[in-house]
Amino acid sequence: MGNMSIVYHESSKTFHLYNEDVSYIMTVMRNGHLGQLYYGKRIRDRENFSHLLETCKRPMTSYVYDNDRTFSLEHVRQEYPVFGTTDYRQPAVEIRQENGSRISDFQYQGYQVRKGKPKLSGLPATYTENEKEAETLTVTLEDRVTKVRVKLLYTIFAESGALARSVQFVNGGEGPVYLSRAMSLSLDMPDHDYLWQQLSGCWARECHIHTRSLEPGIQSIGSMRGHSSHEHNPFLVLKRPSADERQGEAMGISLVYSGNFRIQAEVDAHDTLRVLAGIDPETFEWKLEPGEDFQTPEAVMVYTDRGLNHLSQTFHKLYRTRLARGYWRDRPRPILNNNWEATYFDFTQDRLIEIASRAKECGVELFVLDDGWFGERNNERAGLGDWRVNKKRLPKGVGFLAERIEGLGLQFGLWFEPEMVNRNSDFYRAHPDWILSTPGRHESHGRHQYVLDFSRKEVVDAIYEQMAKLLREAKISYIKWDMNRSITECYSAAWPADRQGEIYHRYILGVYSLYERLTTEFPKVLFESCASGGGRFDPGMLYYAPQGWVSDDSDAVERLKIQYGTSMCYPISSMGAHVSVTPNHQVYRNTPLHTRANVAYFGAFGYELDLNRLSEPERNEVKEQIAFMKKYREILQFGIFYRLKSPFEGNEAAWMVVSEDKKTALVGWYRILNCVNGSYTRVRLLGLNPEYCYRNARTGDCHFGDELMNVGLITSDETAGELPAGITPYTDFESRIYVLEVTKP
Ligand code: DGJ
Repeated sequence: MGNMSIVYHESSKTFHLYNEDVSYIMTVMRNGHLGQLYYGKRIRDRENFSHLLETCKRPMTSYVYDNDRTFSLEHVRQEYPVFGTTDYRQPAVEIRQENGSRISDFQYQGYQVRKGKPKLSGLPATYTENEKEAETLTVTLEDRVTKVRVKLLYTIFAESGALARSVQFVNGGEGPVYLSRAMSLSLDMPDHDYLWQQLSGCWARECHIHTRSLEPGIQSIGSMRGHSSHEHNPFLVLKRPSADERQGEAMGISLVYSGNFRIQAEVDAHDTLRVLAGIDPETFEWKLEPGEDFQTPEAVMVYTDRGLNHLSQTFHKLYRTRLARGYWRDRPRPILNNNWEATYFDFTQDRLIEIASRAKECGVELFVLDDGWFGERNNERAGLGDWRVNKKRLPKGVGFLAERIEGLGLQFGLWFEPEMVNRNSDFYRAHPDWILSTPGRHESHGRHQYVLDFSRKEVVDAIYEQMAKLLREAKISYIKWDMNRSITECYSAAWPADRQGEIYHRYILGVYSLYERLTTEFPKVLFESCASGGGRFDPGMLYYAPQGWVSDDSDAVERLKIQYGTSMCYPISSMGAHVSVTPNHQVYRNTPLHTRANVAYFGAFGYELDLNRLSEPERNEVKEQIAFMKKYREILQFGIFYRLKSPFEGNEAAWMVVSEDKKTALVGWYRILNCVNGSYTRVRLLGLNPEYCYRNARTGDCHFGDELMNVGLITSDETAGELPAGITPYTDFESRIYVLEVTKP
């Protein structure tokens, strides 16, 4: 079997996309629509797969043809199903026409295969760096009545089990039509013997893994908040019940989008499964004038038969190297100190310099000034929108502070919340009509702030001008781009009544356009996305900002679950993770300093505290932590990550990274509550070379990779409640990092 190919068999009108891992097969059905035949492990190609298109004569069915009681859309698996013509499951597309009809009939017109992958205009998407990395198939369908053309795009990558999909609409007709549903992906599977796994939670408790079986009817996750949300990440896993981290079949579906979305699975009466992913149809309608086109966001599907770790590793690699972009993509991330939890709004220039000086002494590389440096921002009620310095706080300006920080030998980073405005700001006073707000209706606030109407170019331009000015004038190496409220009363004064359904999507397009302009003009600035923590931690953001603040909860124990869940889809280098003070500011828990670092090492590492407030021995420990991170961050952030023990399942958790050459591995082991006289414990490792002999830096002992992977790494305590002299007692929230380095490759 060869590498990657997109084959079209003319005699059976069948498409087969395959690489070494997966096959995706579809055909033109006898009614001219596109039918889904197979998605899964790579199978041998053949001229004709039409026997896979099962149909059946079933009572109480509506049929397409007069003399044929076998062909109903209700009972065939389709590629891009429409509303209302014999299929009663939820459709992928629905088009409202001028006469009120919602019926469409997309007939196959032709196809095109090209090397590489085209850009999606105005939208984030995976990309290739040379044409050999992928091939793209475009299948064109047309509705005879409206003359709307649908182009289904499928990109298959040579080196992974990933397929990227999206859809383009072109109105080739004479009058306008309204897209009321335009999903990015539809996937009909022949059975529903899967467990559904979603990443859900809320503010400060993001990305917890929830698992359930699929039942008849619809199960869905989504957002109608205007951002992808803390509540549900735009990511779904469907795994066979017997699959686990180490083995078995699973599919992941990830939407490269930051706005309102829906991912759903519908199980029908005959146990088939339809998965839909795309923009949330409830909050979307798009008017398409003759000659206009519309591009959906991209959805990425990954199939594996090698377990959930392999599924995640496929996403990690693709998203780290072919979704994230720019100068910082492949560079180890600077160790930063952010002042938010150290000072909140209570800081002066001198206090910041004090914090930064101490950070420098401990080895930190980047100092980040968070919220509060601009306008009249003395609390949450004022300032957003006025992106010029708050002279009371920083009398000599941002440029001066940046120079002082640079003078200390640190880089300087700055916080913005570009999409928001307080009523108490000059920006709002000058443009009160530039917020999203419905005429005659109450304007709800969130954190005393209002959402700027980013569907309007002039609004985005005005914010861009302010931010670009600062970035040109001051030496700013990093931007934390925050977003702290959801959208309400969504309506834009700039758009006509029949285009109000477009505003949520246009808003996100505006956010993307601002990101694109800033990252293009300032290519070396490291962007970190944030939305009250993980409120918009999604693949769309990763295209512009190679790292994001995973959660406002900085407690190490809470972070175990959050980072473990997030790792299902997102690479370690993308997860902002900081050491903060105890008692922790979110859960008031006291965890050992080493545990706080041991969790944060598996991320874009930093500190969220004032190091001056630590004791001398603690600061020495911090120095050691930073030296450790500098030594190993390339492996921690860019190595191959494995989940070993789930914090959702017991008192212990473990994960590890292995370098590409398998010569170094770092294992993070964590125990929530201490136990006296506890069990012997081991963790079976993954991804090592069985032939290599690894030295365990904690014990000095050497072990072959096969032993560590099959027998396991021993993690039991050497005491049972009675401490020999010289050993520090273990406490609750204990953790260890095991460094394993090859002695004999
Ligand atoms: C929410 C963020 O998640 C925090 O880290 C901090 O930047 C605050 N906003 C500042 O207002």
